[in-house]
Amino acid sequence: MPIRIAPSILSADLARLDEDVRRVLAGGADQIHVDVMDGRFVPNLTFGAPVVRCLRRHTDAVLDCHLMVEDPERYIEPFAKAGANILTIHAEATRHLERHLAAIREAGMRPGVAINPATPLAAVEEIAGAVDLLLIMTVNPGFGGQTFWEPGTDKVRRARALLDAARNGAMLQVDGGVTRETIGRLAAAGADTFVAGNAIYGSQDPAAEVGALRQRARAAIEGTRNA
Ligand code: DX5
Ligand code: ZN
Repeated sequence: MPIRIAPSILSADLARLDEDVRRVLAGGADQIHVDVMDGRFVPNLTFGAPVVRCLRRHTDAVLDCHLMVEDPERYIEPFAKAGANILTIHAEATRHLERHLAAIREAGMRPGVAINPATPLAAVEEIAGAVDLLLIMTVNPGFGGQTFWEPGTDKVRRARALLDAARNGAMLQVDGGVTRETIGRLAAAGADTFVAGNAIYGSQDPAAEVGALRQRARAAIEGTRNA
């Protein structure tokens, strides 16, 4: 099973973004997680497609864009043009989820769907076969550095079963409070793509932290296999 580490640039030094992206890529990061917030879906405001366009000029890395915005369909074209690779939208943010996921694919990106802690997994059951990524939030989105939502581990276990049944090989991503301490149980529960902001950019050596997180996820998976 692959393990993908996706550093969130929300916790990077945004005045030194290029440098901070290079550091984690040098440490083996698999994709760069870009947290887009509109101040309405979440109580915080970050950056949009123009930042993705600039990042694209500097790197070939997979840009994994997480839209925490209302009516995300308004941003499909701008993000496609900017060079996003994965576009994840929230199930809670739109009425016509299936249509917009299809539009993301038509625009040449890989569609992802995210759900907040309080949203039941059933909200994405019917469209599980149509996504390339399912994101289980393990904090209420809006800020980096929050405390991990413990019931998320069991939700990940159920999400793993849902994706296995859909047989489409979608990534199972977790986002929020992923640290050296929590990553093992999430990997054992079946997550394969791990967003980490504060754990990576808050550490002394962000490049080394990417490796440390990966190693802990791998050890947990091997532990389950040997159990
Ligand atoms: C939360 C964002 C996350 C955030 C995670 O609203 O979606 O991607 O950057 O930050 P940490 O890893 O610090 O919890
Ligand atoms: Zn995120």
